[in-house]
Amino acid sequence: MSRHFSLLRDTRHLQAVALGLIVLGGGLIAARSHLIPKSFGEHGPYRGDALTEISAQQPVLTSDTTCLKCHDSVRKERAESPHKDVACLHCHGNGHEHMAQAANAAADPSVTIEKAKPWDGDFFTKLDLFITKDRATCLSCHEKVVGMPAGFRSIDVKSHLADQGAENIDSPDVCFECHTGHSPGI
Ligand code: HEC
Ligand code: HEC
Ligand code: HEC
Ligand code: HEC
Repeated sequence: MSRHFSLLRDTRHLQAVALGLIVLGGGLIAARSHLIPKSFGEHGPYRGDALTEISAQQPVLTSDTTCLKCHDSVRKERAESPHKDVACLHCHGNGHEHMAQAANAAADPSVTIEKAKPWDGDFFTKLDLFITKDRATCLSCHEKVVGMPAGFRSIDVKSHLADQGAENIDSPDVCFECHTGHSPGI
C-alpha cells in the first residue's frame, strides 16, 4: 500500500515537470512566432523583405552608366580612350545632388544646375560634384610604385616631365599641358 502511495507521489512530480515543460515550450513557440519577422524563410534562412529594402537604397558610389544617361558626348569622347573604364567619380565625385538637380531642371527650366566645384584635395571628399585637373588625382593611379603590375602605364613624375619638356613643372595642373581627362592618349 505504501509502495503504491509513493508511486503516485512520484507520478505527481513527473506530471508537474511535464506540465512545466509544456507551458515553457508553448511560451517559447509563441515568443518565436512573435519575434521572427514575417518574411523570414521566404527565399532562404534570412528575412525575404531585406532584398527589397536593400535594393531600394541609394547606392553610395555612382556607376558610369548612371552619368552617361545624360552625358552622351562624354561617352563618345571616351569611346576609343584608354580611360574608357576609369570611373567618373574619381575626377567628378558621386554627383547625387547634381543628378537630382539635373532631373529637376529637365522638368522645370527655371531650375539651375550648379557648376562643379574645384577639387579640395581630399580623396574622401564630401563635395558632390567637382572637376579636378590636379596631378594628385592622376598620380593616385599612374605614379610608378612598387607592386603595380609591370604592364600598367605608370610614370616617374620628375623624369616624365623633364623628358616631355613640361613648362610649369610645379603647377598642380601640369599634366594638362599635354593630356586631357577623358582621352589622355597622345
Ligand atoms: C539627369 C541628367 C544628368 C545626369 C544623370 C548627370 N548629369 Fe552631369 N550635367 C547634366 C546637365 C544638364 C549639365 C549642364 C549642362 C552641361 O554642361 O552638359 C551637367 C553638367 C555636368 C558637369 C559640368 C559642370 C560644370 O561646372 O560645367 C559635370 C562635370 C557633370 N555634369 C558630371 C556628371 C557626373 C560625374 C554624373 C554622374 C555622377 C552626371 N554628371 C550625371 C545632366 C546630368
Ligand atoms: C581622369 C579624370 C576624369 C574622368 C575619369 C572623367 N572626367 Fe569628366 N572631366 C575631367 C576634366 C579634367 C574635365 C575638364 C575638362 C576641361 O576643362 O578641359 C572634365 C569635364 C567634364 C564635363 C564638362 C565638360 C565636357 O567635356 O562636357 C563633363 C560633363 C564630364 N567631364 C563628365 C564626365 C563623365 C560623365 C565621366 C564618366 C563617364 C567623366 N567625366 C570622367 C576629368 C575626368
Ligand atoms: C609636356 C607634355 C607632357 C606632360 C606635361 C605630361 N605628359 Fe604624360 N605623356 C606625354 C607624352 C608625349 C606621352 C607619350 C610618350 C610615349 O608614348 O612614349 C606621355 C605618356 C604618359 C603616360 C603613359 C606612359 C606609358 O608607359 O605608356 C602616362 C601614364 C602619363 N603620360 C601620365 C602623365 C601625368 C600623370 C602627367 C602629370 C604629372 C603627365 N603625363 C604630364 C606628354 C606629357
Ligand atoms: C582610377 C585610375 C586612373 C586615374 C585617376 C587616371 N588614370 Fe590614366 N589610365 C588609367 C588606366 C586604367 C589606363 C589604361 C592603362 C592601360 O591600358 O594599360 C590609363 C591610361 C592613361 C594614359 C595612357 C594613354 C595611352 O594612349 O596609352 C595616360 C597618358 C593617362 N592615363 C593619363 C592620365 C591623366 C593625365 C590623369 C589625370 C587627369 C589620369 N590618367 C587619371 C587609370 C587612371
